[in-house]
Amino acid sequence: MYRKPGFGDQPDWIREYTSSLEFDRKIYSAVVLTALAHLFHLWEKGLIPEEAGSALKCLVEALDKEDEVLSGEFEDVHEALEAWLLDKAGKHAGWLAYGKSRNDQVSTALRLALRKEIIRLLWEINRLRGTLLGKAERNLNVLIPAFTHLRPAQPSTVAHYLLHVERELSVHWRTLWYLLREVIDLSPLGSGPVAGSSVPLDRGRLAELLGFSGVEENTIFATGSRTFASLVLGSIASLAVALSRVAEDLIVWSTSQFSIVRLPDRHVSTSSIMPQKRNPVTLEIIRAVAGDILGSLTSFLTITKGIPSGYNLDLQEANNHIFGPLEKIINAIKVMADLIDDIEFREVRDIQLLAQDVAERLVKERGIAYREAHSLLAKALRENGWDLKKAVESLDMELPGFEEAINSRGRGGPNPERMSKEISSRRKLLRDDIGRLTEFESLKLSAERELVERVRRTLERKHIE
Ligand code: ARG
Repeated sequence: MYRKPGFGDQPDWIREYTSSLEFDRKIYSAVVLTALAHLFHLWEKGLIPEEAGSALKCLVEALDKEDEVLSGEFEDVHEALEAWLLDKAGKHAGWLAYGKSRNDQVSTALRLALRKEIIRLLWEINRLRGTLLGKAERNLNVLIPAFTHLRPAQPSTVAHYLLHVERELSVHWRTLWYLLREVIDLSPLGSGPVAGSSVPLDRGRLAELLGFSGVEENTIFATGSRTFASLVLGSIASLAVALSRVAEDLIVWSTSQFSIVRLPDRHVSTSSIMPQKRNPVTLEIIRAVAGDILGSLTSFLTITKGIPSGYNLDLQEANNHIFGPLEKIINAIKVMADLIDDIEFREVRDIQLLAQDVAERLVKERGIAYREAHSLLAKALRENGWDLKKAVESLDMELPGFEEAINSRGRGGPNPERMSKEISSRRKLLRDDIGRLTEFESLKLSAERELVERVRRTLERKHIE
Protein backbone atom coordinates (compact mmCIF):
# COMPACT_ATOMS: atom_id res chain seq x y z
CA MET A 1 0.00 0.00 0.00
CA TYR A 2 1.19 3.46 -0.83
CA ARG A 3 0.19 6.33 1.46
CA LYS A 4 -0.81 9.29 -0.64
CA PRO A 5 0.01 12.48 1.26
CA GLY A 6 -3.15 13.52 3.06
CA PHE A 7 -5.26 11.21 0.98
CA GLY A 8 -5.12 7.74 2.47
CA ASP A 9 -4.03 4.50 0.87
CA GLN A 10 -3.66 3.50 -2.73
CA PRO A 11 -2.80 -0.02 -3.94
CA ASP A 12 0.73 -0.10 -5.41
CA TRP A 13 -0.43 -1.20 -8.82
CA ILE A 14 -2.63 1.87 -9.17
CA ARG A 15 0.14 4.14 -7.95
CA GLU A 16 2.49 2.55 -10.49
CA TYR A 17 -0.09 3.05 -13.21
CA THR A 18 -0.01 6.83 -12.80
CA SER A 19 3.64 7.16 -11.72
CA SER A 20 6.28 9.02 -13.72
CA LEU A 21 9.23 7.93 -11.57
CA GLU A 22 10.92 6.04 -14.38
CA PHE A 23 10.78 8.97 -16.79
CA ASP A 24 11.72 11.42 -14.05
CA ARG A 25 15.31 10.15 -14.05
CA LYS A 26 15.76 12.03 -17.31
CA ILE A 27 14.91 15.34 -15.66
CA TYR A 28 16.19 14.58 -12.16
CA SER A 29 18.88 17.22 -11.82
CA ALA A 30 16.67 19.82 -13.51
CA VAL A 31 13.93 19.09 -10.95
CA VAL A 32 16.33 19.44 -8.01
CA LEU A 33 17.76 22.70 -9.40
CA THR A 34 14.25 24.04 -9.87
CA ALA A 35 13.35 23.14 -6.27
CA LEU A 36 16.59 24.73 -5.11
CA ALA A 37 15.89 27.97 -6.96
CA HIS A 38 12.37 28.15 -5.56
CA LEU A 39 13.31 27.47 -1.95
CA PHE A 40 16.32 29.77 -2.14
CA HIS A 41 14.14 32.55 -3.49
CA LEU A 42 11.57 32.15 -0.70
CA TRP A 43 14.42 32.27 1.76
CA GLU A 44 16.36 35.22 0.32
CA LYS A 45 13.14 37.21 0.19
CA GLY A 46 12.43 36.45 3.85
CA LEU A 47 9.18 34.72 2.99
CA ILE A 48 10.13 31.71 5.13
CA PRO A 49 12.04 31.39 8.45
CA GLU A 50 15.80 31.72 8.34
CA GLU A 51 16.28 28.22 9.84
CA ALA A 52 14.64 26.76 6.74
CA GLY A 53 18.03 27.39 5.14
CA SER A 54 19.09 23.98 6.39
CA ALA A 55 16.68 22.41 3.89
CA LEU A 56 18.55 24.29 1.16
CA LYS A 57 21.75 22.62 2.18
CA CYS A 58 20.11 19.21 1.88
CA LEU A 59 18.71 20.10 -1.52
CA VAL A 60 22.22 20.80 -2.79
CA GLU A 61 23.23 17.33 -1.54
CA ALA A 62 20.23 15.81 -3.33
CA LEU A 63 21.84 16.73 -6.66
CA ASP A 64 24.21 13.76 -6.22
CA LYS A 65 21.70 11.40 -4.66
CA GLU A 66 19.47 10.43 -7.54
CA ASP A 67 19.30 6.72 -6.75
CA GLU A 68 18.64 7.30 -3.08
CA VAL A 69 15.95 9.93 -3.68
CA LEU A 70 14.15 7.90 -6.32
CA SER A 71 14.38 4.57 -4.52
CA GLY A 72 11.07 4.75 -2.65
CA GLU A 73 7.56 4.20 -3.88
CA PHE A 74 6.21 7.52 -5.01
CA GLU A 75 4.02 9.06 -7.64
CA ASP A 76 6.84 11.13 -9.07
CA VAL A 77 10.18 12.81 -8.46
CA HIS A 78 8.54 15.81 -6.84
CA GLU A 79 6.94 13.70 -4.13
CA ALA A 80 10.07 11.61 -3.75
CA LEU A 81 12.25 14.68 -3.32
CA GLU A 82 9.93 16.22 -0.76
CA ALA A 83 9.81 12.98 1.23
CA TRP A 84 13.61 12.65 1.10
CA LEU A 85 13.96 16.26 2.23
CA LEU A 86 11.54 15.70 5.09
CA ASP A 87 13.74 12.85 6.21
CA LYS A 88 16.93 14.94 6.03
CA ALA A 89 15.78 18.43 6.99
CA GLY A 90 12.73 17.70 9.13
CA LYS A 91 9.92 20.19 9.21
CA HIS A 92 11.83 22.80 7.19
CA ALA A 93 11.20 20.66 4.13
CA GLY A 94 7.58 21.73 4.41
CA TRP A 95 8.40 25.14 2.93
CA LEU A 96 9.33 23.75 -0.45
CA ALA A 97 5.70 23.51 -1.50
CA TYR A 98 4.92 27.13 -0.55
CA GLY A 99 3.89 28.93 -3.75
CA LYS A 100 5.19 26.09 -5.96
CA SER A 101 3.17 23.47 -7.75
CA ARG A 102 4.43 20.37 -9.51
CA ASN A 103 2.84 21.90 -12.59
CA ASP A 104 5.05 24.95 -12.89
CA GLN A 105 7.99 22.90 -11.68
CA VAL A 106 7.76 20.09 -14.22
CA SER A 107 7.30 22.56 -17.06
CA THR A 108 10.43 24.40 -15.85
CA ALA A 109 12.47 21.23 -15.41
CA LEU A 110 11.49 19.98 -18.86
CA ARG A 111 12.67 23.23 -20.41
CA LEU A 112 15.96 23.08 -18.49
CA ALA A 113 16.60 19.50 -19.59
CA LEU A 114 15.56 20.28 -23.17
CA ARG A 115 17.84 23.29 -23.21
CA LYS A 116 20.81 21.00 -22.56
CA GLU A 117 19.78 18.46 -25.17
CA ILE A 118 19.19 21.06 -27.84
CA ILE A 119 22.60 22.56 -27.19
CA ARG A 120 24.10 19.07 -27.71
CA LEU A 121 22.10 18.67 -30.91
CA LEU A 122 23.18 22.07 -32.23
CA TRP A 123 26.82 21.12 -31.65
CA GLU A 124 26.40 17.91 -33.62
CA ILE A 125 24.67 19.73 -36.46
CA ASN A 126 27.57 22.18 -36.58
CA ARG A 127 30.10 19.37 -36.66
CA LEU A 128 28.34 17.78 -39.62
CA ARG A 129 28.12 21.15 -41.37
CA GLY A 130 31.89 21.52 -40.98
CA THR A 131 32.48 18.02 -42.34
CA LEU A 132 30.26 18.69 -45.35
CA LEU A 133 32.00 21.96 -46.16
CA GLY A 134 35.45 20.34 -45.90
CA LYS A 135 34.42 17.46 -48.14
CA ALA A 136 32.81 19.87 -50.62
CA GLU A 137 35.99 21.93 -50.78
CA ARG A 138 38.03 18.83 -51.65
CA ASN A 139 35.52 17.85 -54.36
CA LEU A 140 34.74 21.12 -56.12
CA ASN A 141 35.36 19.74 -59.60
CA VAL A 142 34.33 16.12 -59.22
CA LEU A 143 31.44 15.55 -61.61
CA ILE A 144 28.40 13.54 -60.64
CA PRO A 145 24.88 13.67 -62.04
CA ALA A 146 22.10 15.64 -60.40
CA PHE A 147 18.99 13.46 -60.38
CA THR A 148 15.28 14.00 -60.86
CA HIS A 149 12.88 11.07 -60.66
CA LEU A 150 15.99 9.05 -59.73
CA ARG A 151 17.11 9.43 -63.35
CA PRO A 152 20.38 11.22 -64.17
CA ALA A 153 19.29 14.74 -65.16
CA GLN A 154 22.10 17.29 -65.46
CA PRO A 155 25.81 17.46 -64.76
CA SER A 156 26.58 18.55 -61.25
CA THR A 157 29.45 18.18 -58.77
CA VAL A 158 30.02 16.51 -55.44
CA ALA A 159 30.43 19.97 -53.87
CA HIS A 160 27.06 21.09 -55.24
CA TYR A 161 25.36 18.03 -53.78
CA LEU A 162 27.05 18.33 -50.39
CA LEU A 163 26.22 22.01 -50.10
CA HIS A 164 22.54 21.25 -50.50
CA VAL A 165 22.83 18.93 -47.51
CA GLU A 166 24.66 21.62 -45.56
CA ARG A 167 21.81 24.02 -46.29
CA GLU A 168 19.29 21.51 -44.92
CA LEU A 169 21.30 21.38 -41.71
CA SER A 170 21.76 25.10 -41.49
CA VAL A 171 18.03 25.76 -41.94
CA HIS A 172 17.19 23.32 -39.15
CA TRP A 173 19.94 24.80 -37.01
CA ARG A 174 18.36 28.24 -37.32
CA THR A 175 14.90 26.89 -36.48
CA LEU A 176 16.12 25.09 -33.37
CA TRP A 177 18.21 28.06 -32.31
CA TYR A 178 15.13 30.27 -32.53
CA LEU A 179 13.06 27.80 -30.48
CA LEU A 180 15.84 27.48 -27.93
CA ARG A 181 16.15 31.21 -27.35
CA GLU A 182 12.61 32.45 -27.87
CA VAL A 183 10.57 29.61 -26.40
CA ILE A 184 12.54 27.02 -24.39
CA ASP A 185 14.67 29.55 -22.53
CA LEU A 186 11.78 31.26 -20.73
CA SER A 187 10.91 30.32 -17.18
CA PRO A 188 7.48 29.01 -16.11
CA LEU A 189 8.52 28.94 -12.43
CA GLY A 190 6.28 30.91 -10.07
CA SER A 191 3.15 30.19 -12.11
CA GLY A 192 1.72 27.90 -9.45
CA PRO A 193 -0.67 25.17 -10.52
CA VAL A 194 -2.25 27.28 -13.28
CA ALA A 195 -3.07 30.82 -12.13
CA GLY A 196 -0.29 31.79 -9.74
CA SER A 197 -0.47 32.13 -5.95
CA SER A 198 -0.70 34.78 -3.26
CA VAL A 199 2.98 34.29 -2.39
CA PRO A 200 4.84 37.42 -3.55
CA LEU A 201 7.38 35.60 -5.73
CA ASP A 202 9.57 37.60 -8.07
CA ARG A 203 9.32 35.52 -11.23
CA GLY A 204 12.08 37.48 -12.90
CA ARG A 205 14.42 36.56 -10.07
CA LEU A 206 13.40 32.89 -10.24
CA ALA A 207 14.17 32.92 -13.96
CA GLU A 208 17.52 34.57 -13.33
CA LEU A 209 18.49 32.02 -10.67
CA LEU A 210 18.03 29.22 -13.20
CA GLY A 211 19.78 31.07 -16.00
CA PHE A 212 16.67 31.60 -18.11
CA SER A 213 16.77 34.61 -20.39
CA GLY A 214 13.26 35.67 -19.35
CA VAL A 215 9.86 34.74 -17.96
CA GLU A 216 7.13 32.75 -19.72
CA GLU A 217 4.49 35.29 -18.73
CA ASN A 218 1.03 33.77 -18.94
CA THR A 219 0.65 31.23 -16.16
CA ILE A 220 -1.89 29.07 -18.03
CA PHE A 221 0.47 28.78 -20.99
CA ALA A 222 3.50 28.37 -18.73
CA THR A 223 2.02 25.40 -16.85
CA GLY A 224 -0.34 23.77 -19.31
CA SER A 225 1.24 24.17 -22.74
CA ARG A 226 3.76 21.77 -24.24
CA THR A 227 4.11 23.67 -27.49
CA PHE A 228 7.75 24.25 -26.60
CA ALA A 229 8.31 20.51 -26.93
CA SER A 230 6.07 19.83 -29.92
CA LEU A 231 7.85 22.52 -31.96
CA VAL A 232 11.21 20.95 -31.15
CA LEU A 233 9.90 17.50 -32.07
CA GLY A 234 8.44 18.90 -35.27
CA SER A 235 11.71 20.38 -36.35
CA ILE A 236 13.79 17.34 -35.47
CA ALA A 237 11.28 15.17 -37.33
CA SER A 238 11.76 17.43 -40.33
CA LEU A 239 15.54 17.22 -39.93
CA ALA A 240 15.34 13.43 -39.69
CA VAL A 241 13.32 13.34 -42.89
CA ALA A 242 15.98 15.43 -44.65
CA LEU A 243 18.72 13.11 -43.37
CA SER A 244 16.82 10.03 -44.43
CA ARG A 245 16.73 11.36 -48.01
CA VAL A 246 20.50 11.81 -47.94
CA ALA A 247 20.83 8.27 -46.55
CA GLU A 248 18.64 7.00 -49.39
CA ASP A 249 20.76 8.81 -52.00
CA LEU A 250 23.94 7.29 -50.66
CA ILE A 251 22.40 3.83 -50.37
CA VAL A 252 21.31 3.95 -54.01
CA TRP A 253 24.54 5.54 -55.20
CA SER A 254 26.62 2.87 -53.48
CA THR A 255 24.91 0.00 -55.33
CA SER A 256 26.97 -1.69 -58.03
CA GLN A 257 24.37 -0.47 -60.54
CA PHE A 258 24.93 3.23 -59.75
CA SER A 259 28.44 2.95 -58.35
CA ILE A 260 28.85 6.66 -57.64
CA VAL A 261 30.13 6.32 -54.09
CA ARG A 262 32.10 3.84 -52.07
CA LEU A 263 31.09 3.69 -48.42
CA PRO A 264 33.76 3.44 -45.73
CA ASP A 265 34.29 -0.18 -44.65
CA ARG A 266 33.27 0.57 -41.09
CA HIS A 267 29.82 1.60 -42.32
CA VAL A 268 29.03 -1.59 -44.20
CA SER A 269 28.37 -5.10 -43.04
CA THR A 270 28.51 -8.29 -44.99
CA SER A 271 25.86 -10.92 -45.35
CA SER A 272 26.10 -13.96 -43.11
CA ILE A 273 25.70 -16.15 -46.18
CA MET A 274 26.66 -14.09 -49.28
CA PRO A 275 30.29 -13.04 -48.86
CA GLN A 276 30.24 -10.49 -51.70
CA LYS A 277 27.70 -8.21 -49.96
CA ARG A 278 28.58 -4.74 -48.62
CA ASN A 279 25.32 -3.78 -46.98
CA PRO A 280 24.94 -0.07 -46.09
CA VAL A 281 23.83 -0.78 -42.55
CA THR A 282 24.44 2.57 -40.83
CA LEU A 283 22.64 4.44 -43.60
CA GLU A 284 19.71 2.07 -43.33
CA ILE A 285 19.40 2.87 -39.64
CA ILE A 286 19.60 6.62 -40.36
CA ARG A 287 16.87 6.18 -42.97
CA ALA A 288 14.72 4.36 -40.39
CA VAL A 289 15.26 6.95 -37.65
CA ALA A 290 12.99 9.38 -39.49
CA GLY A 291 10.12 6.91 -39.20
CA ASP A 292 10.84 6.44 -35.54
CA ILE A 293 10.87 10.17 -34.81
CA LEU A 294 7.75 10.79 -36.87
CA GLY A 295 6.09 8.16 -34.70
CA SER A 296 7.14 10.05 -31.56
CA LEU A 297 5.92 13.35 -32.98
CA THR A 298 2.60 11.76 -33.85
CA SER A 299 2.31 10.25 -30.37
CA PHE A 300 3.17 13.55 -28.73
CA LEU A 301 0.73 15.62 -30.76
CA THR A 302 -2.02 13.03 -30.53
CA ILE A 303 -1.66 12.72 -26.74
CA THR A 304 -1.75 16.49 -26.31
CA LYS A 305 -4.56 17.25 -28.74
CA GLY A 306 -7.94 17.80 -27.14
CA ILE A 307 -6.61 18.14 -23.58
CA PRO A 308 -8.42 20.98 -21.82
CA SER A 309 -6.26 24.01 -20.97
CA GLY A 310 -4.12 23.86 -17.83
CA TYR A 311 -2.24 20.83 -16.50
CA ASN A 312 -3.68 17.34 -17.03
CA LEU A 313 -1.87 14.07 -16.38
CA ASP A 314 -1.98 13.28 -20.10
CA LEU A 315 0.99 15.66 -20.33
CA GLN A 316 3.02 13.26 -18.24
CA GLU A 317 2.44 10.54 -20.84
CA ALA A 318 3.53 12.90 -23.59
CA ASN A 319 6.88 13.38 -21.81
CA ASN A 320 7.87 9.84 -22.80
CA HIS A 321 8.17 10.97 -26.43
CA ILE A 322 10.53 13.93 -26.01
CA PHE A 323 14.03 12.78 -25.14
CA GLY A 324 14.27 9.51 -27.10
CA PRO A 325 13.94 11.29 -30.46
CA LEU A 326 16.60 13.81 -29.47
CA GLU A 327 19.04 11.02 -28.68
CA LYS A 328 18.21 9.33 -31.97
CA ILE A 329 18.73 12.40 -34.12
CA ILE A 330 21.98 13.27 -32.34
CA ASN A 331 23.33 9.77 -33.00
CA ALA A 332 22.17 9.80 -36.61
CA ILE A 333 24.01 13.06 -37.23
CA LYS A 334 27.17 11.76 -35.56
CA VAL A 335 27.16 8.64 -37.72
CA MET A 336 26.44 10.64 -40.87
CA ALA A 337 29.38 12.96 -40.16
CA ASP A 338 31.73 10.03 -39.69
CA LEU A 339 30.54 8.49 -42.95
CA ILE A 340 30.75 11.70 -45.02
CA ASP A 341 34.29 12.26 -43.83
CA ASP A 342 35.53 9.05 -45.45
CA ILE A 343 33.09 8.37 -48.27
CA GLU A 344 34.70 8.20 -51.73
CA PHE A 345 33.04 9.68 -54.81
CA ARG A 346 33.69 8.27 -58.27
CA GLU A 347 33.51 10.84 -61.04
CA VAL A 348 30.72 10.25 -63.56
CA ARG A 349 31.00 11.78 -67.03
CA ASP A 350 27.80 10.60 -68.62
CA ILE A 351 27.39 12.34 -71.98
CA GLN A 352 23.61 11.95 -71.91
CA LEU A 353 23.55 14.53 -69.12
CA LEU A 354 24.43 17.22 -71.64
CA ALA A 355 21.16 17.04 -73.61
CA GLN A 356 19.71 20.23 -72.17
CA ASP A 357 22.97 22.07 -72.90
CA VAL A 358 22.80 20.89 -76.52
CA ALA A 359 19.21 22.09 -76.88
CA GLU A 360 20.13 25.46 -75.37
CA ARG A 361 23.05 25.71 -77.80
CA LEU A 362 20.62 25.06 -80.67
CA VAL A 363 18.62 28.07 -79.51
CA LYS A 364 21.71 30.25 -79.36
CA GLU A 365 23.20 29.08 -82.66
CA ARG A 366 20.05 28.83 -84.77
CA GLY A 367 17.85 31.48 -83.18
CA ILE A 368 14.95 29.06 -82.75
CA ALA A 369 12.56 28.92 -79.78
CA TYR A 370 13.44 26.45 -77.02
CA ARG A 371 10.39 24.26 -77.64
CA GLU A 372 11.50 23.82 -81.26
CA ALA A 373 15.07 22.99 -80.24
CA HIS A 374 13.76 20.49 -77.70
CA SER A 375 11.66 18.69 -80.36
CA LEU A 376 14.50 18.75 -82.85
CA LEU A 377 16.90 17.11 -80.44
CA ALA A 378 14.27 14.66 -79.17
CA LYS A 379 13.68 13.53 -82.75
CA ALA A 380 17.42 13.18 -83.42
CA LEU A 381 17.80 11.18 -80.20
CA ARG A 382 14.96 8.83 -81.15
CA GLU A 383 16.45 8.30 -84.60
CA ASN A 384 19.90 7.57 -83.11
CA GLY A 385 18.97 5.03 -80.47
CA TRP A 386 18.98 7.70 -77.69
CA ASP A 387 22.73 8.18 -78.19
CA LEU A 388 23.38 11.89 -77.63
CA LYS A 389 26.76 11.87 -79.37
CA LYS A 390 25.28 10.46 -82.59
CA ALA A 391 22.22 12.71 -82.33
CA VAL A 392 24.43 15.79 -82.06
CA GLU A 393 26.47 14.71 -85.07
CA SER A 394 23.29 14.19 -87.08
CA LEU A 395 22.44 17.83 -86.31
CA ASP A 396 25.85 18.97 -87.50
CA MET A 397 26.85 20.21 -84.08
CA GLU A 398 29.50 19.61 -81.48
CA LEU A 399 28.95 18.22 -78.03
CA PRO A 400 29.76 20.79 -75.32
CA GLY A 401 32.43 19.75 -72.81
CA PHE A 402 31.54 18.99 -69.21
CA GLU A 403 33.72 21.76 -67.85
CA GLU A 404 32.13 24.22 -70.26
CA ALA A 405 28.67 23.11 -69.17
CA ILE A 406 29.47 23.32 -65.46
CA ASN A 407 31.25 26.66 -65.75
CA SER A 408 28.27 28.21 -67.52
CA ARG A 409 25.98 27.63 -64.54
CA GLY A 410 24.56 30.64 -62.73
CA ARG A 411 23.86 31.45 -59.11
CA GLY A 412 23.31 28.40 -56.87
CA GLY A 413 24.46 25.99 -59.56
CA PRO A 414 27.53 23.73 -59.61
CA ASN A 415 29.98 26.21 -61.18
CA PRO A 416 33.15 25.45 -59.14
CA GLU A 417 34.20 29.08 -58.85
CA ARG A 418 30.81 30.05 -57.43
CA MET A 419 30.77 26.95 -55.21
CA SER A 420 34.09 27.93 -53.77
CA LYS A 421 32.78 31.39 -52.84
CA GLU A 422 29.65 29.79 -51.46
CA ILE A 423 31.75 27.52 -49.27
CA SER A 424 33.59 30.55 -47.85
CA SER A 425 30.39 32.36 -46.97
CA ARG A 426 28.94 29.26 -45.37
CA ARG A 427 32.10 28.77 -43.38
CA LYS A 428 31.68 32.27 -42.06
CA LEU A 429 28.07 31.59 -41.09
CA LEU A 430 29.15 28.38 -39.39
CA ARG A 431 31.86 30.22 -37.47
CA ASP A 432 29.28 32.78 -36.32
CA ASP A 433 26.88 30.02 -35.27
CA ILE A 434 29.65 28.28 -33.33
CA GLY A 435 30.45 31.56 -31.59
CA ARG A 436 26.82 32.17 -30.66
CA LEU A 437 26.40 28.63 -29.39
CA THR A 438 29.61 28.66 -27.36
CA GLU A 439 28.55 31.85 -25.65
CA PHE A 440 25.01 30.62 -24.97
CA GLU A 441 26.21 27.29 -23.61
CA SER A 442 28.76 28.73 -21.22
CA LEU A 443 26.20 31.26 -20.00
CA LYS A 444 23.69 28.52 -19.22
CA LEU A 445 26.14 26.04 -17.74
CA SER A 446 27.68 28.66 -15.49
CA ALA A 447 24.19 29.75 -14.36
CA GLU A 448 23.57 26.25 -13.01
CA ARG A 449 26.92 26.15 -11.24
CA GLU A 450 26.38 29.66 -9.92
CA LEU A 451 23.04 28.81 -8.38
CA VAL A 452 24.60 26.02 -6.36
CA GLU A 453 27.58 28.20 -5.44
CA ARG A 454 25.36 31.11 -4.47
CA VAL A 455 23.29 28.90 -2.17
CA ARG A 456 26.45 27.48 -0.57
CA ARG A 457 28.03 30.90 -0.07
CA THR A 458 24.92 32.43 1.43
CA LEU A 459 24.46 29.53 3.83
CA GLU A 460 28.07 29.79 4.94
CA ARG A 461 27.78 33.50 5.47
CA LYS A 462 24.78 32.99 7.68
CA HIS A 463 26.41 30.04 9.45
CA ILE A 464 23.60 27.71 8.60
CA GLU A 465 24.46 24.06 9.13
N1 ARG B 1 4.63 14.01 -12.68
C1 ARG B 1 3.93 15.00 -13.38
C2 ARG B 1 4.51 15.21 -14.80
O1 ARG B 1 5.56 14.72 -15.05
C3 ARG B 1 3.93 16.32 -12.67
C4 ARG B 1 2.95 16.29 -11.60
C5 ARG B 1 1.73 17.05 -11.87
N2 ARG B 1 0.68 16.27 -11.35
C6 ARG B 1 -0.49 16.75 -11.00
N3 ARG B 1 -1.34 15.93 -10.55
N4 ARG B 1 -0.82 18.01 -11.12
O2 ARG B 1 3.89 15.81 -15.64
